[in-house]
Amino acid sequence: MRIGILGSGLMGGKLGTLLARAGHDVVFSYARQRSKLDALAREAGGSARAGTPREAAQQAEVLLLAVHWSRVDDVLAQAGDIAGKILVTCSLPMNVDDTGLVVAHTSSGAEELAKKAAGARVVSAFGTVPSEVLFAVYEARKGERRPSLVYSGDDEEAKGIVASLIRALGFDPVDAGPLEVARYSEPFTLLVARLAYDGDDGPALAYRFERYEERS
Ligand SMILES: NC(=O)c1ccc[n+]([C@@H]2O[C@H](COP(=O)([O-])OP(=O)(O)OC[C@H]3O[C@@H](n4cnc5c(N)ncnc54)[C@H](OP(=O)(O)O)[C@@H]3O)[C@@H](O)[C@H]2O)c1
Repeated sequence: MRIGILGSGLMGGKLGTLLARAGHDVVFSYARQRSKLDALAREAGGSARAGTPREAAQQAEVLLLAVHWSRVDDVLAQAGDIAGKILVTCSLPMNVDDTGLVVAHTSSGAEELAKKAAGARVVSAFGTVPSEVLFAVYEARKGERRPSLVYSGDDEEAKGIVASLIRALGFDPVDAGPLEVARYSEPFTLLVARLAYDGDDGPALAYRFERYEERS
C-alpha cells in the first residue's frame, strides 16, 4: 500500500520503517529538519522516501498521524485535502506538558480528529503501545503468541485495511468497535504508559487479551 507518515518521530519513524520493511511504499513527512526524514527513508530501505506532508498525503491510500496533539491542526493544514483517505491515528489528545488528556469521557482525540479532517476515514490504532516495543514485536511476528492491538473506527473497509497493517507488524488486531470506543482506548494508553515508563522493567511493553469459555 502507499502509506504517508504525518509526523516522523518516535511513533511515525518506527511505524513507517517497519511498514516499509513489510513491503509498503512509505513517505516520511513532518519533522523540523528535512535531513532527519531523508535519513529515516535511507535506513528504512525499500522504496521509502522523504517528502512534504502534502506529497505524503497526495500519493497515499493510508496516512498515519503521529504528532503531538498541539501539532494536529498544523500538519493537517500542510497535508491539504485528504477526503476519502484512510487516516490512522496513534496521536493522543494530550495537553502541552503531556500530563493529561484534553479530550475524554464525552469525546476522544480520534473523534475530534474526524471532525477536523472532514471526509477522511479515521481509524484509531497503534496508540495503545509504546514506541519502544514496536521493533521487538515485529521481530517476534512469526512466534505463536502475538500481543493484541485494539483498533476502532466507523468505516469497516478502512478498518479491514488497518487490521492487515496491524497484522503485518506482528500484532493480533482486536476490533474494538466504532470510533467512539477511542474514549476508552485513549485513557487505557495512559495505564500502559505508566506500566512502561514508571516501573523497573523497561518500556518495551505490549498487552494481550485472552478469552476463556465461561464456566459455572
Ligand atoms: N512515543 C510513544 O511511545 C507514543 C505511544 C502512543 C501514542 N503516542 C502518541 O503519538 C503521537 C506522536 O508521538 P511521538 O512520541 O512519536 O512524538 P515525537 O517523537 O515528538 O514526534 C513528533 C513528530 O512531529 C514533528 N514535529 C513537531 N513539531 C513540529 C514542527 N513545528 N514542525 C515540523 N515537525 C514537527 C517532530 O519533528 P522532530 O523530529 O524534528 O522533533 C516529530 O517528527 C503523540 O500524539 C503521542 O501522544 C506516542
